[in-house]
Amino acid sequence: MSYILRNYGFFRYFCNRFSDIFGKRTELSTIYYQKMLDINTIEKLDKIATPFYYYDMDLFRRTVDTASELAQQHSIMVHYAVKANVERRLLEYISSKGFGADCVSGNEVLHAHECGFPAGKIVYAGVGKSDKEIYNALKLGIEAFNCESLQEIYVINEMAHVHGLKANVSVRINPDIDAHTHKYVTTGLYENKFGISQHEFDKLIDILKKSEHINFIGLHFHIGSQITRVDEVFALECRRVNEIVAYFERNGLTVSNINLGGGLGVDYDDPDENPIADFGTWFRTISENIVRRDDQKVHVEPGRSLVAQCGTLMSRVLFVKSGETKNFLIMDAGMNDLIRPALYGAYHKIENLSASQRTFYPTHQAYDIVGPVCESSDVWGAGRLLPLSVRGDLMAIRSTGAYGQVMASRYNMKDLAPSVFSDSLEDAAEAVDYFTLSSRA
Ligand code: LLP
Repeated sequence: MSYILRNYGFFRYFCNRFSDIFGKRTELSTIYYQKMLDINTIEKLDKIATPFYYYDMDLFRRTVDTASELAQQHSIMVHYAVKANVERRLLEYISSKGFGADCVSGNEVLHAHECGFPAGKIVYAGVGKSDKEIYNALKLGIEAFNCESLQEIYVINEMAHVHGLKANVSVRINPDIDAHTHKYVTTGLYENKFGISQHEFDKLIDILKKSEHINFIGLHFHIGSQITRVDEVFALECRRVNEIVAYFERNGLTVSNINLGGGLGVDYDDPDENPIADFGTWFRTISENIVRRDDQKVHVEPGRSLVAQCGTLMSRVLFVKSGETKNFLIMDAGMNDLIRPALYGAYHKIENLSASQRTFYPTHQAYDIVGPVCESSDVWGAGRLLPLSVRGDLMAIRSTGAYGQVMASRYNMKDLAPSVFSDSLEDAAEAVDYFTLSSRA
Protein backbone atom coordinates (compact mmCIF):
# COMPACT_ATOMS: atom_id res chain seq x y z
CA MET A 1 0.00 0.00 0.00
CA SER A 2 2.73 2.44 0.92
CA TYR A 3 4.36 1.76 -2.45
CA ILE A 4 1.12 2.64 -4.23
CA LEU A 5 0.65 5.84 -2.28
CA ARG A 6 4.15 7.15 -2.71
CA ASN A 7 4.88 6.17 -6.30
CA TYR A 8 3.53 7.72 -9.47
CA GLY A 9 4.28 4.71 -11.61
CA PHE A 10 2.19 1.92 -10.19
CA PHE A 11 -0.95 3.96 -9.87
CA ARG A 12 -0.78 5.18 -13.41
CA TYR A 13 0.25 1.76 -14.67
CA PHE A 14 -2.86 0.34 -13.05
CA CYS A 15 -5.11 2.99 -14.65
CA ASN A 16 -3.59 2.46 -18.07
CA ARG A 17 -3.77 -1.35 -17.94
CA PHE A 18 -7.35 -1.21 -16.72
CA SER A 19 -8.20 0.95 -19.67
CA ASP A 20 -6.34 -1.37 -22.09
CA ILE A 21 -8.21 -4.42 -20.89
CA PHE A 22 -11.70 -3.00 -20.49
CA GLY A 23 -11.39 0.01 -22.70
CA LYS A 24 -13.68 1.17 -25.43
CA ARG A 25 -13.56 4.84 -26.15
CA THR A 26 -16.92 6.24 -25.10
CA GLU A 27 -18.75 9.32 -26.31
CA LEU A 28 -17.77 11.14 -23.15
CA SER A 29 -14.14 10.16 -23.47
CA THR A 30 -13.86 11.67 -26.93
CA ILE A 31 -15.05 14.98 -25.52
CA TYR A 32 -12.10 15.02 -23.20
CA TYR A 33 -9.66 13.58 -25.68
CA GLN A 34 -7.72 16.72 -26.29
CA LYS A 35 -6.90 17.72 -29.84
CA MET A 36 -3.68 19.59 -29.27
CA LEU A 37 -1.18 16.72 -29.23
CA ASP A 38 -0.76 13.21 -30.59
CA ILE A 39 -0.09 10.27 -28.32
CA ASN A 40 3.62 10.03 -29.22
CA THR A 41 4.17 13.64 -28.26
CA ILE A 42 2.30 13.22 -24.98
CA GLU A 43 4.53 10.25 -24.17
CA LYS A 44 7.63 12.35 -24.80
CA LEU A 45 6.29 15.28 -22.77
CA ASP A 46 5.53 12.92 -19.91
CA LYS A 47 9.26 12.23 -19.57
CA ILE A 48 10.15 15.89 -19.08
CA ALA A 49 10.58 17.49 -15.65
CA THR A 50 7.53 19.61 -14.79
CA PRO A 51 6.47 22.37 -14.60
CA PHE A 52 7.53 23.75 -17.97
CA TYR A 53 6.20 25.99 -20.71
CA TYR A 54 5.66 24.05 -23.93
CA TYR A 55 5.69 26.04 -27.16
CA ASP A 56 4.06 24.60 -30.26
CA MET A 57 6.38 26.13 -32.83
CA ASP A 58 4.28 25.10 -35.79
CA LEU A 59 1.22 26.93 -34.43
CA PHE A 60 3.39 29.90 -33.45
CA ARG A 61 4.79 30.27 -36.98
CA ARG A 62 1.37 29.83 -38.59
CA THR A 63 -0.01 32.56 -36.31
CA VAL A 64 2.78 35.02 -37.12
CA ASP A 65 2.60 34.20 -40.85
CA THR A 66 -1.17 34.75 -40.89
CA ALA A 67 -0.82 38.11 -39.14
CA SER A 68 1.97 39.10 -41.52
CA GLU A 69 0.03 38.25 -44.70
CA LEU A 70 -3.16 39.97 -43.57
CA ALA A 71 -1.29 43.06 -42.38
CA GLN A 72 0.39 43.40 -45.76
CA GLN A 73 -2.96 43.14 -47.53
CA HIS A 74 -4.23 46.08 -45.48
CA SER A 75 -0.95 48.08 -45.50
CA ILE A 76 -0.74 47.93 -41.71
CA MET A 77 2.64 47.80 -39.95
CA VAL A 78 2.93 45.36 -37.06
CA HIS A 79 5.04 45.95 -33.96
CA TYR A 80 5.08 42.93 -31.64
CA ALA A 81 4.40 43.87 -28.00
CA VAL A 82 7.46 42.24 -26.48
CA LYS A 83 6.01 42.29 -22.96
CA ALA A 84 3.73 39.35 -23.83
CA ASN A 85 6.62 36.91 -24.21
CA VAL A 86 10.35 37.62 -24.38
CA GLU A 87 11.53 34.16 -25.41
CA ARG A 88 14.46 34.64 -27.78
CA ARG A 89 13.40 32.00 -30.31
CA LEU A 90 9.97 33.62 -30.69
CA LEU A 91 11.41 37.11 -31.03
CA GLU A 92 13.96 36.03 -33.62
CA TYR A 93 11.21 34.58 -35.80
CA ILE A 94 8.97 37.62 -35.41
CA SER A 95 11.81 40.02 -36.25
CA SER A 96 12.73 37.89 -39.29
CA LYS A 97 9.25 38.55 -40.68
CA GLY A 98 9.98 42.29 -40.76
CA PHE A 99 7.80 43.21 -37.76
CA GLY A 100 8.84 46.00 -35.44
CA ALA A 101 8.90 45.78 -31.63
CA ASP A 102 6.83 47.62 -29.04
CA CYS A 103 8.74 47.81 -25.75
CA VAL A 104 7.93 49.16 -22.30
CA SER A 105 11.29 49.10 -20.56
CA GLY A 106 14.92 49.79 -21.33
CA ASN A 107 15.75 46.11 -21.01
CA GLU A 108 12.99 45.17 -23.45
CA VAL A 109 14.45 47.66 -25.94
CA LEU A 110 17.94 46.15 -25.62
CA HIS A 111 16.62 42.57 -25.73
CA ALA A 112 14.47 43.23 -28.82
CA HIS A 113 17.49 44.75 -30.53
CA GLU A 114 19.63 41.71 -29.65
CA CYS A 115 16.91 39.43 -31.06
CA GLY A 116 17.09 41.04 -34.48
CA PHE A 117 14.72 44.03 -34.41
CA PRO A 118 16.52 46.99 -36.01
CA ALA A 119 16.62 50.10 -33.80
CA GLY A 120 14.61 51.94 -36.46
CA LYS A 121 11.70 49.53 -35.86
CA ILE A 122 11.61 49.71 -32.05
CA VAL A 123 9.10 51.92 -30.25
CA TYR A 124 9.27 52.50 -26.53
CA ALA A 125 6.14 53.28 -24.45
CA GLY A 126 5.55 53.32 -20.69
CA VAL A 127 4.50 55.99 -18.20
CA GLY A 128 7.73 55.82 -16.20
CA LYS A 129 10.95 55.74 -18.20
CA SER A 130 14.06 56.28 -16.08
CA ASP A 131 16.88 58.60 -17.22
CA LYS A 132 19.13 55.58 -17.80
CA GLU A 133 16.48 53.91 -19.94
CA ILE A 134 15.92 57.07 -21.97
CA TYR A 135 19.65 57.55 -22.49
CA ASN A 136 20.22 53.99 -23.74
CA ALA A 137 17.28 54.13 -26.15
CA LEU A 138 18.36 57.55 -27.38
CA LYS A 139 21.85 56.28 -28.11
CA LEU A 140 20.44 53.28 -29.95
CA GLY A 141 18.41 55.62 -32.19
CA ILE A 142 15.00 53.95 -31.81
CA GLU A 143 12.04 54.60 -34.12
CA ALA A 144 10.08 56.47 -31.44
CA PHE A 145 9.63 57.20 -27.77
CA ASN A 146 5.89 56.95 -27.15
CA CYS A 147 5.70 59.73 -24.57
CA GLU A 148 3.03 59.57 -21.93
CA SER A 149 3.33 62.95 -20.17
CA LEU A 150 4.36 66.54 -20.91
CA GLN A 151 7.23 66.28 -18.46
CA GLU A 152 8.58 63.20 -20.23
CA ILE A 153 8.74 65.14 -23.53
CA TYR A 154 10.57 67.93 -21.74
CA VAL A 155 13.13 65.51 -20.22
CA ILE A 156 13.75 63.66 -23.50
CA ASN A 157 14.21 66.97 -25.33
CA GLU A 158 16.74 68.11 -22.73
CA MET A 159 18.68 64.86 -22.76
CA ALA A 160 18.82 64.81 -26.57
CA HIS A 161 20.11 68.39 -26.43
CA VAL A 162 22.87 67.58 -23.94
CA HIS A 163 24.10 64.60 -25.99
CA GLY A 164 23.79 66.35 -29.34
CA LEU A 165 21.10 63.96 -30.60
CA LYS A 166 17.59 64.23 -31.94
CA ALA A 167 14.85 62.01 -30.47
CA ASN A 168 11.92 60.69 -32.48
CA VAL A 169 8.78 61.19 -30.45
CA SER A 170 5.23 59.95 -30.74
CA VAL A 171 2.70 60.99 -28.15
CA ARG A 172 0.47 58.49 -26.41
CA ILE A 173 -3.04 59.86 -26.19
CA ASN A 174 -5.68 58.71 -23.74
CA PRO A 175 -8.80 58.67 -25.96
CA ASP A 176 -11.28 57.90 -23.13
CA ILE A 177 -12.73 54.78 -24.77
CA ASP A 178 -14.13 51.77 -22.96
CA ALA A 179 -12.52 48.58 -24.33
CA HIS A 180 -15.14 46.40 -22.58
CA THR A 181 -12.56 44.13 -21.02
CA HIS A 182 -11.23 43.36 -17.53
CA LYS A 183 -10.67 46.54 -15.52
CA TYR A 184 -7.00 45.65 -14.89
CA VAL A 185 -6.30 45.53 -18.64
CA THR A 186 -8.34 48.60 -19.62
CA THR A 187 -5.98 51.47 -20.37
CA GLY A 188 -7.83 54.05 -22.48
CA LEU A 189 -10.15 55.68 -19.94
CA TYR A 190 -9.47 59.01 -18.27
CA GLU A 191 -9.36 57.21 -14.90
CA ASN A 192 -6.28 55.23 -16.16
CA LYS A 193 -2.71 56.47 -15.76
CA PHE A 194 -1.79 56.03 -19.42
CA GLY A 195 -1.34 58.68 -22.12
CA ILE A 196 -2.12 62.37 -22.28
CA SER A 197 -5.74 63.51 -22.05
CA GLN A 198 -7.64 66.07 -24.06
CA HIS A 199 -7.48 68.85 -21.46
CA GLU A 200 -3.69 69.06 -22.09
CA PHE A 201 -3.77 68.96 -25.91
CA ASP A 202 -3.11 72.67 -26.47
CA LYS A 203 -0.22 72.76 -24.00
CA LEU A 204 1.12 69.56 -25.61
CA ILE A 205 1.01 70.99 -29.12
CA ASP A 206 2.83 74.08 -27.89
CA ILE A 207 5.60 72.01 -26.23
CA LEU A 208 6.02 69.79 -29.30
CA LYS A 209 6.48 72.85 -31.52
CA LYS A 210 9.01 74.45 -29.17
CA SER A 211 11.14 71.33 -28.49
CA GLU A 212 14.01 71.62 -30.93
CA HIS A 213 15.69 68.32 -30.09
CA ILE A 214 12.78 66.11 -30.80
CA ASN A 215 11.30 65.05 -34.05
CA PHE A 216 7.51 64.62 -33.71
CA ILE A 217 6.39 61.67 -35.79
CA GLY A 218 2.90 60.74 -34.68
CA LEU A 219 0.26 59.66 -32.21
CA HIS A 220 -0.04 56.46 -30.23
CA PHE A 221 -3.12 54.83 -28.69
CA HIS A 222 -3.70 51.59 -26.78
CA ILE A 223 -7.07 51.19 -25.13
CA GLY A 224 -6.82 47.75 -23.52
CA SER A 225 -6.15 44.06 -23.87
CA GLN A 226 -8.11 40.85 -24.56
CA ILE A 227 -10.71 42.78 -26.56
CA THR A 228 -13.27 40.36 -27.95
CA ARG A 229 -15.88 42.78 -29.32
CA VAL A 230 -13.37 43.41 -32.09
CA ASP A 231 -15.35 45.21 -34.79
CA GLU A 232 -17.35 47.36 -32.38
CA VAL A 233 -14.51 48.47 -30.10
CA PHE A 234 -11.83 49.04 -32.75
CA ALA A 235 -14.26 50.90 -35.04
CA LEU A 236 -15.00 53.20 -32.11
CA GLU A 237 -11.28 53.64 -31.45
CA CYS A 238 -10.61 54.52 -35.11
CA ARG A 239 -13.37 57.14 -35.20
CA ARG A 240 -12.00 58.80 -32.08
CA VAL A 241 -8.43 58.61 -33.45
CA ASN A 242 -9.56 60.28 -36.69
CA GLU A 243 -10.90 63.26 -34.70
CA ILE A 244 -7.72 63.57 -32.64
CA VAL A 245 -5.37 63.28 -35.64
CA ALA A 246 -7.40 65.96 -37.42
CA TYR A 247 -7.15 68.24 -34.36
CA PHE A 248 -3.34 67.94 -34.23
CA GLU A 249 -3.00 68.56 -37.97
CA ARG A 250 -5.34 71.57 -37.86
CA ASN A 251 -2.99 72.93 -35.23
CA GLY A 252 0.08 72.67 -37.41
CA LEU A 253 1.63 69.27 -36.59
CA THR A 254 2.09 66.56 -39.21
CA VAL A 255 1.00 63.16 -37.94
CA SER A 256 2.97 60.68 -40.06
CA ASN A 257 2.46 57.62 -37.83
CA ILE A 258 -0.86 56.52 -36.39
CA ASN A 259 -0.26 53.73 -33.88
CA LEU A 260 -3.46 52.04 -32.73
CA GLY A 261 -1.87 49.78 -30.09
CA GLY A 262 -2.67 46.13 -29.43
CA GLY A 263 -5.55 44.40 -27.70
CA LEU A 264 -6.86 41.71 -30.05
CA GLY A 265 -8.37 38.97 -27.87
CA VAL A 266 -7.91 35.19 -28.12
CA ASP A 267 -10.28 32.30 -27.40
CA TYR A 268 -9.36 31.02 -23.93
CA ASP A 269 -12.50 28.84 -23.77
CA ASP A 270 -11.75 26.83 -26.87
CA PRO A 271 -8.14 27.14 -28.06
CA ASP A 272 -8.47 24.12 -30.37
CA GLU A 273 -11.46 25.60 -32.18
CA ASN A 274 -9.81 29.03 -32.58
CA PRO A 275 -6.04 28.55 -32.43
CA ILE A 276 -5.36 31.68 -34.47
CA ALA A 277 -6.85 35.02 -33.39
CA ASP A 278 -9.14 36.91 -35.72
CA PHE A 279 -6.53 39.16 -37.35
CA GLY A 280 -8.77 39.39 -40.44
CA THR A 281 -11.60 41.17 -38.63
CA TRP A 282 -9.18 43.38 -36.72
CA PHE A 283 -7.31 44.63 -39.77
CA ARG A 284 -10.47 44.97 -41.89
CA THR A 285 -12.16 47.03 -39.16
CA ILE A 286 -9.14 49.32 -39.03
CA SER A 287 -8.93 49.66 -42.82
CA GLU A 288 -12.60 50.49 -43.08
CA ASN A 289 -12.66 53.02 -40.26
CA ILE A 290 -9.34 54.83 -40.17
CA VAL A 291 -8.93 57.97 -42.27
CA ARG A 292 -5.41 58.08 -43.71
CA ARG A 293 -3.47 59.81 -46.43
CA ASP A 294 -0.94 57.90 -48.58
CA ASP A 295 1.92 59.44 -46.63
CA GLN A 296 0.57 58.27 -43.27
CA LYS A 297 1.55 54.90 -41.78
CA VAL A 298 -0.83 52.89 -39.60
CA HIS A 299 0.73 50.67 -36.91
CA VAL A 300 -0.66 48.04 -34.55
CA GLU A 301 1.01 46.40 -31.54
CA PRO A 302 -0.33 42.88 -30.93
CA GLY A 303 1.16 40.90 -28.08
CA ARG A 304 -1.25 38.26 -26.78
CA SER A 305 -2.76 37.38 -30.16
CA LEU A 306 0.65 36.37 -31.58
CA VAL A 307 1.84 34.14 -28.74
CA ALA A 308 -0.96 33.08 -26.35
CA GLN A 309 -2.28 29.95 -28.06
CA CYS A 310 1.06 28.35 -28.91
CA GLY A 311 2.02 28.17 -25.22
CA THR A 312 0.92 25.55 -22.67
CA LEU A 313 2.01 25.33 -19.07
CA MET A 314 2.66 21.64 -18.36
CA SER A 315 2.24 20.47 -14.81
CA ARG A 316 1.90 17.20 -12.92
CA VAL A 317 -0.62 16.12 -10.31
CA LEU A 318 1.27 15.81 -7.03
CA PHE A 319 -1.59 14.73 -4.81
CA VAL A 320 -5.30 14.03 -4.96
CA LYS A 321 -7.08 15.08 -1.81
CA SER A 322 -10.69 14.72 -0.70
CA GLY A 323 -11.78 17.78 1.17
CA GLU A 324 -14.96 17.93 3.27
CA THR A 325 -17.01 19.12 0.31
CA LYS A 326 -14.80 18.80 -2.74
CA ASN A 327 -11.91 16.98 -4.36
CA PHE A 328 -8.63 18.76 -4.87
CA LEU A 329 -6.01 18.11 -7.50
CA ILE A 330 -2.79 19.60 -6.21
CA MET A 331 -0.42 20.43 -9.05
CA ASP A 332 3.28 21.18 -9.15
CA ALA A 333 2.71 24.46 -11.07
CA GLY A 334 1.40 27.42 -9.11
CA MET A 335 0.69 31.13 -9.22
CA ASN A 336 4.45 31.70 -9.24
CA ASP A 337 4.52 30.11 -12.72
CA LEU A 338 1.37 31.80 -14.05
CA ILE A 339 -0.28 34.56 -12.08
CA ARG A 340 -3.20 35.35 -14.42
CA PRO A 341 -5.89 33.30 -12.59
CA ALA A 342 -4.90 34.71 -9.18
CA LEU A 343 -4.48 38.29 -10.41
CA TYR A 344 -7.36 38.69 -12.87
CA GLY A 345 -9.53 35.64 -12.15
CA ALA A 346 -8.49 34.60 -15.69
CA TYR A 347 -9.83 31.34 -17.12
CA HIS A 348 -7.45 28.81 -18.68
CA LYS A 349 -8.67 25.54 -20.11
CA ILE A 350 -7.11 22.57 -18.27
CA GLU A 351 -6.74 19.08 -19.70
CA ASN A 352 -5.49 15.83 -18.27
CA LEU A 353 -3.13 14.60 -21.00
CA SER A 354 -2.36 11.30 -19.29
CA ALA A 355 -6.04 10.46 -18.99
CA SER A 356 -6.52 11.30 -22.64
CA GLN A 357 -4.24 8.32 -23.42
CA ARG A 358 -6.45 5.92 -21.48
CA THR A 359 -9.13 4.44 -23.64
CA PHE A 360 -11.38 3.80 -20.67
CA TYR A 361 -12.28 6.42 -18.12
CA PRO A 362 -13.84 4.87 -15.04
CA THR A 363 -15.58 8.11 -14.27
CA HIS A 364 -15.41 11.88 -14.42
CA GLN A 365 -15.17 14.08 -11.39
CA ALA A 366 -15.36 17.72 -10.45
CA TYR A 367 -12.07 18.94 -9.03
CA ASP A 368 -10.76 22.14 -7.58
CA ILE A 369 -7.40 22.30 -9.31
CA VAL A 370 -4.88 24.15 -7.17
CA GLY A 371 -1.18 25.01 -7.03
CA PRO A 372 1.34 24.39 -4.25
CA VAL A 373 1.87 28.03 -3.19
CA CYS A 374 0.88 29.14 0.29
CA GLU A 375 -1.89 31.49 -0.86
CA SER A 376 -5.61 30.72 -1.04
CA SER A 377 -5.76 32.46 -4.42
CA ASP A 378 -3.40 29.85 -5.91
CA VAL A 379 -6.26 28.12 -7.72
CA TRP A 380 -6.22 27.05 -11.38
CA GLY A 381 -9.91 26.35 -11.58
CA ALA A 382 -12.78 25.46 -9.27
CA GLY A 383 -15.22 22.65 -9.95
CA ARG A 384 -13.59 21.58 -13.21
CA LEU A 385 -14.94 18.32 -14.63
CA LEU A 386 -12.07 16.02 -15.58
CA PRO A 387 -11.56 12.31 -16.15
CA LEU A 388 -10.56 10.56 -12.95
CA SER A 389 -7.08 11.91 -12.28
CA VAL A 390 -4.30 10.30 -10.32
CA ARG A 391 -0.95 11.24 -8.83
CA GLY A 392 1.58 11.77 -11.60
CA ASP A 393 -0.87 12.68 -14.38
CA LEU A 394 0.42 15.26 -16.84
CA MET A 395 -1.86 18.29 -17.06
CA ALA A 396 -1.99 20.99 -19.73
CA ILE A 397 -2.90 24.55 -18.74
CA ARG A 398 -3.75 25.99 -22.13
CA SER A 399 -3.32 29.38 -23.84
CA THR A 400 -0.48 30.46 -21.60
CA GLY A 401 2.04 31.74 -24.17
CA ALA A 402 1.18 35.39 -23.45
CA TYR A 403 1.76 37.02 -20.06
CA GLY A 404 2.67 33.63 -18.59
CA GLN A 405 6.40 33.09 -18.31
CA VAL A 406 7.09 36.84 -18.37
CA MET A 407 5.01 37.40 -15.24
CA ALA A 408 6.40 34.41 -13.35
CA SER A 409 8.14 34.96 -10.04
CA ARG A 410 10.27 32.97 -7.64
CA TYR A 411 7.75 33.32 -4.80
CA ASN A 412 8.27 30.59 -2.18
CA MET A 413 11.74 30.26 -3.77
CA LYS A 414 10.34 28.06 -6.49
CA ASP A 415 12.42 27.51 -9.62
CA LEU A 416 11.31 29.27 -12.80
CA ALA A 417 9.58 26.95 -15.27
CA PRO A 418 11.80 26.61 -18.37
CA SER A 419 10.76 26.74 -22.05
CA VAL A 420 10.45 23.54 -24.05
CA PHE A 421 9.98 23.75 -27.81
CA SER A 422 7.98 21.28 -29.88
CA ASP A 423 10.78 21.01 -32.43
CA SER A 424 13.52 20.22 -29.89
CA LEU A 425 11.92 18.10 -27.15
CA GLU A 426 15.16 16.15 -26.80
CA ASP A 427 16.84 19.25 -25.29
CA ALA A 428 14.45 19.33 -22.31
CA ALA A 429 15.49 18.24 -18.82
CA GLU A 430 14.29 14.72 -17.99
CA ALA A 431 11.96 14.07 -15.09
CA VAL A 432 13.55 12.06 -12.30
CA ASP A 433 11.90 9.32 -10.27
CA TYR A 434 13.20 10.09 -6.79
CA PHE A 435 12.35 6.62 -5.50
CA THR A 436 14.68 4.87 -7.91
CA LEU A 437 16.78 7.97 -8.74
CA SER A 438 16.46 7.07 -12.41
CA SER A 439 14.81 9.03 -15.19
CA ARG A 440 11.05 8.54 -15.55
CA ALA A 441 10.55 6.18 -18.44
N1 LLP B 1 0.77 48.21 -26.61
C1 LLP B 1 0.79 48.70 -25.36
C2 LLP B 1 1.17 50.08 -25.13
C3 LLP B 1 0.43 47.89 -24.28
O1 LLP B 1 0.44 48.37 -23.05
C4 LLP B 1 0.06 46.53 -24.51
C5 LLP B 1 -0.30 45.64 -23.41
C6 LLP B 1 0.09 46.06 -25.84
C7 LLP B 1 0.44 46.94 -26.86
C8 LLP B 1 -0.24 44.64 -26.19
O2 LLP B 1 -1.55 44.32 -25.90
P1 LLP B 1 -2.12 42.87 -26.29
O3 LLP B 1 -2.15 42.77 -27.80
O4 LLP B 1 -1.24 41.87 -25.72
O5 LLP B 1 -3.48 42.84 -25.71
N2 LLP B 1 -0.92 41.00 -18.14
C9 LLP B 1 -2.23 41.18 -18.75
C10 LLP B 1 -2.17 41.96 -20.03
C11 LLP B 1 -1.55 43.32 -19.88
C12 LLP B 1 -1.43 44.08 -21.17
C13 LLP B 1 -0.57 45.27 -21.02
N3 LLP B 1 -0.39 46.03 -22.21
C14 LLP B 1 -2.85 39.77 -18.95
O6 LLP B 1 -2.25 38.80 -18.53
O7 LLP B 1 -3.94 39.67 -19.47
